[in-house]
Formats: sequence, C-alpha cells, structure tokens
Amino acid sequence: MKKYLIHLIILALCPVLSAQLVSKQKLRSLAEESALQYHVLKSELNGSAAFPQTYDKAAQKLVTSNSGWWCSGFYPGSLFYLYELTGDTVLYQEANRLLVPLAKEQFNVTTHDLGFMMYCSFGNANRLHATPEYKQTLLNSARSLASRFNPTVGCIKSWDSKPGDFLVIIDNMMNLELLFWATKVTGDSTYAKIAITHANTTMKNHFRPDYSSYHVINYNPQTGVVQQKRTAQGYSDGSAWARGQAWGLYGFTVMYRETHNPKYLKQAMHIAGFILHHPRLPKDMVPYWDFDAPNIPMAPRDASAAAVMCSALLELQQYAPRKLSETYLKAAETMFNSLSSDIYRAKPGKTGGFILDHSTGNLPNHSEVDVPLSYADYYYLEAMKRMKDRIYN
Ligand code: GLY
Repeated sequence: MKKYLIHLIILALCPVLSAQLVSKQKLRSLAEESALQYHVLKSELNGSAAFPQTYDKAAQKLVTSNSGWWCSGFYPGSLFYLYELTGDTVLYQEANRLLVPLAKEQFNVTTHDLGFMMYCSFGNANRLHATPEYKQTLLNSARSLASRFNPTVGCIKSWDSKPGDFLVIIDNMMNLELLFWATKVTGDSTYAKIAITHANTTMKNHFRPDYSSYHVINYNPQTGVVQQKRTAQGYSDGSAWARGQAWGLYGFTVMYRETHNPKYLKQAMHIAGFILHHPRLPKDMVPYWDFDAPNIPMAPRDASAAAVMCSALLELQQYAPRKLSETYLKAAETMFNSLSSDIYRAKPGKTGGFILDHSTGNLPNHSEVDVPLSYADYYYLEAMKRMKDRIYN
C-alpha cells in the first residue's frame, strides 16, 4: 500500500515530458529491450497453452487466461510486432505456437471480442505470411462475430444478458476492422455493411454533446429503443472512462480508413479534441483511469488507455488537416515518450516480462488496478511499429 502511494505521488509530481521526436536509434533500443522482456514472459509460460493477462505483484506471479478470454490474441499479436521490429524468429515461433490453442475461438459465438482475439493474432499472422488456413480462421471468426448483429437495433451485441436487454459497449468499435477485412477478401459486402450500421448506431447513441462516450448502451432487442445509458468499468454512468474514450478514438479512425466517409474522420477528431483538451489529462498525457475519477491527482493511471490513444493518433494524424495533424503527432510522441520512460516501463526482467506497468483493467470491480496488462503492451508495440514504418522511414 505504501509503495502504491509513493508511486502515485511520483506520478502526480512527474515532470512535463514534452513532445520530442523519437530517434530511430531510440526506437531500435526500445524494441530490443521489449523483446528481451517477452523472452522472460515466454520462459514464464514455459510452453503451456495459457495466455498472459497480467502480473500479480503481491504474489509475484504471472496471471494467465484460457483462449476464451477477450485478451487471448494480444500476446501472439505483440510477438508478431516484436518479430517485425527486431527480426527475432524465436518470438515469431512463440506467436505461432499460441495460434494453435487459440484457433478454436473462430467458432465462438458467445463473445463480441473476436476482433481483439482473432484479428490482433491471426490478422497479424496473415499479414506477415498469408496462408489459406489463416484466411479461413479469420473468415470463420468474422462470421461468428456477424452472427451477433441485430438489424432492428443496428448493432452487434457485446455482452449476453437477460432476454429484454441488448448490451453494446463502446469497446465493440474495435471489433469492426475484422469485418472490413472479410468483405475485402470475399467481396461479400454484408460484413462491411454490418460494421457501418454498428458504427452509425454507436455514433448516434453512445456519445454525449462533448464527444465523450458512455460505456454501455442497453437497447430493447425487439424495438431498438435505448433503455439505459450506463457504465460498467467507469467511475459513474455519466463519467468518461479513459479506455472507453481510447476505444472510440481508435474505432472511428479505423472507420474513416475503411470507408473514407468524412463523418467518421470528424467523429474521431471530435473524440481526440475531448481527450487532448481535457483539463484533467495529465501533463505526461497518460490518463487517469477515468477522466472523472474522484481522487485525481491520486487516482490510478491507465497506461493501456494511453497506448491505445497513442497508436490511434499516429494513424489519425495521417488523415487530419495539417494543424490538427501536428497536434496529434505531438500528443502521440508525448504519450509514447511517457510510456517509454522509467516511470511506466517495467524494470528489465521484472513484472513477469510485461513491457508496461501501471494500467487499470476494471477498478469498480477491484480487478487489475495499477498493473501490467497484455493489451497495453500490444498497442504500445503497435505505436512503436507505426512510428518506425510510417513516420520515420
Ligand atoms: N472490455 C475491454 C476493456 O476492458 O477495455
């Protein structure tokens, strides 16, 4: 507890980390250090068919999940990014090893998280080395995801609940990319139409006038009427849960990439505006777990939200008008530099081999507070790769 308080005080007082171009050399050494960490994580797994989730600091123990948990695709996905960043073929083989127990999730119709689970893993595998097997796995995954679409509501169902409920969370925007991919490879527009309808319904009902978003919308599955706007992982129904804002930013950026419809670009820029102009966004640009958390500046941060925002802004800056583009790039660099500092990066060999510390999974549930999380690493590595590929080459 004392250590946790000391950490919070350091974060509250930490110096302003200004935007600064990340050099190629710096990117290379960050990638190499990250790869070393993932060798530690690989040793911890020791060949088991388990998926890293987080690290229990008190018990000094790696926490893993089975393939059905929404985060199962992030470890293989991170390994693929590390392979691209460093050429480390041992990590590439480790990624492929985990695809075997993950593959059965292509037929899982009980979750909306198939984009996270299958596109971050098999999607990257197929991008690096396309095979008919990967293609089929991804198409089956897209089919399973599309089976949860309700045309009356105009959304894919996120969480199963009691019969009169139809719950959709902002996070679901992240699963749409898989559907666009399915349309591209099959020529069947059904998948893309579902994604577009889902995004339009989300734009209409999930957002407040200031472009912050609710976490959960509960629709009537028979009429499509909104029954409730609430939170599950945020501080309150009316608050701005940090990672939810990040999912929205990333999701609408992808919507613009896939459709070129300017209304999605505007939406993404409005969300970016909410985040970047928020008076409670800390100077280092790693948000508190909720923008409306009651105990700011002592509230826990969420490095995962910063990693998702950073990666999204690196893409959005390519599409935005010049002035905004510069703002987004600067913000992404500040986030990246902060996450890459000693404050957020795990000490070498420590924290089970995860790369980043200080994320928050589900604070209201007292679960995963101020810990490493597999998706924080995944989006941080994606940001690293985006910097390397698109900005500095
Ligand atoms: N449901 C995904 C998340 O916790 O952000």
